[in-house]
Amino acid sequence: MLILGLNMFHADASSAIVLDGEVLFAIAEERLNRVKHFGGFPALAVKACLQAVGAKITDVDHVAVGQDSDANLAKKVQYALANPAKILNFIKLRQRKEAMRDVRALLAGALDTEPHKLHFQEHHLEHHIAHIASAYYCSPWEKAAGFSYDGSGDFVSTMMARCEGNEIDVFDRVYLPHSLGSFYTMICEFIGYRKYGDEGKVMGLAPYGKDTYCEPLRRVIDLGNGNFQLDLGYFKPLGSNQGMQVLPDGTVRLARHFSDRMIRLFGRPREPYSEITQRDMDLAFAMQHRFEEVFFHLLKQLHRHVPLPEVAMAGGCALNSVANGRLFAETPFERTWIQPAAGDEGLAIGAALHTYHSVLKQPRRYVMKNSYLGPEFSDPLIESELKKASLPYRKLERQPLLEAVADQIAAGNVVGWFQGRMEWGPRALGNRSIVAHPGRPDMKEILNARIKHREWFRPFAPSIMAEYQHQYFEHDHPSPFMLHVYKIRPQKRKELCAVNHVDNTGRLQTVSREENPLYYDLMEAFRRKTGIPVVLNTSFNENEPIVCAPAEAIDCFKRTRMDALAIGSFLVLKSEE
Ligand SMILES: [Fe+2]
Repeated sequence: MLILGLNMFHADASSAIVLDGEVLFAIAEERLNRVKHFGGFPALAVKACLQAVGAKITDVDHVAVGQDSDANLAKKVQYALANPAKILNFIKLRQRKEAMRDVRALLAGALDTEPHKLHFQEHHLEHHIAHIASAYYCSPWEKAAGFSYDGSGDFVSTMMARCEGNEIDVFDRVYLPHSLGSFYTMICEFIGYRKYGDEGKVMGLAPYGKDTYCEPLRRVIDLGNGNFQLDLGYFKPLGSNQGMQVLPDGTVRLARHFSDRMIRLFGRPREPYSEITQRDMDLAFAMQHRFEEVFFHLLKQLHRHVPLPEVAMAGGCALNSVANGRLFAETPFERTWIQPAAGDEGLAIGAALHTYHSVLKQPRRYVMKNSYLGPEFSDPLIESELKKASLPYRKLERQPLLEAVADQIAAGNVVGWFQGRMEWGPRALGNRSIVAHPGRPDMKEILNARIKHREWFRPFAPSIMAEYQHQYFEHDHPSPFMLHVYKIRPQKRKELCAVNHVDNTGRLQTVSREENPLYYDLMEAFRRKTGIPVVLNTSFNENEPIVCAPAEAIDCFKRTRMDALAIGSFLVLKSEE
């Protein structure tokens, strides 16, 4: 049984293909059309999914969309009636959603066929159920607590569920305009980070701040007895899309979230790219602090209803790896399974797996063992791209390639590492990565000056061989998708100085040989040369979506000052160009 999952006309449009319950391929449209967070119809991603499994759209039995515009309709109508200025907006959104619901016509158009030739059954699933399904149905667990939280989706910002066998039993929702994601976005905008997806950057700024504004920011969200409520006086009215706008060309914009009350309380908002002041750092600190307080409060409440040690989690806020790292100490949960594509691209997988298990009642066998669900490219194709780019290269066997790259890293050089299938989700996890020495004090500056051009306060992340995690980090729970931040042990901070953040933490990726043998063996080669079982791992890109195809990697290598490129079996050295 072939199921195509879709996230469409929403940020991070994506597609996934599931054959007999197994996710075979999944990709966000941005990786193919190179438009960051693209929010239109994922036509290229659908084609890539079908091509990967050698199927035609006429072979697809079910199409599942991670969005249901009829979900929570009564709440939407109630909100529109209470906010007359938003009624027109509400009607327009409904009309647009009706138009886009003709999935058959959209797919037929994208794939150059006739709608009447398509025989699939169509399913629409509420946004947050798709998030929870994307985590629970990929986890190894037979039962778990399910949690999803983000800015908004189908008029909901937070969902709690009891997951068991083939059932996701939702028992609580937080409706808009109350949203922990919108709280975070509002403060990020106020301190000058106004692009969709900037929240992760500001998380890195938070530890530079002090506890100056924790008390005033606490008033922005009231915990009360049940869930949480925003004090809307701090926000501009955002409407049922909670301030996220998808423009006709598929780019995603954010409306201004903060109200004039924020300006009266905290002064002028910071202009993007201007100097970051202590005020901005302190607001980032308080924002992260309050976010965590509310998050832990919600998880404790979830645990009271579902008293299990396991929580399966997704939603854009589940990318808050600092909060994820702390939840073990602050809540009763002992194990997490967080979808690597916790943001909205993950809806494609969630909708497809929910259809297979919850709707069609098919048994569970699949467990997501790694995030390498994207395309891969053969050596002959890579070689032809290298020739086209007129780059001198050497072809090496596996072990000599690993030794040569490990030598480069050990010498302090920066290496583009392009291997195997592309990662699913926003993190580069050792297949589309730039790797470097984690223990050189100047490495962060080198990477920023030569390649990444990131804000000074953003840390770089470590990949660590799984069996060494305990020696280097103060927490043992694995972090295979780079979604947890833990303290680095005091005696190891100097050794990992390039990936040790200002608060002595690291957003680690634990790598087992089973998950990624080639990347693991590269780390082992580096460990033999240096004694360090860790490499610095940052995404292979430069102010663009992460590279997907060889030509994009080669282009990024050529226009930045990377020292080497290891692409498939080929090694390119800048010094030999
Ligand atoms: Fe979402």
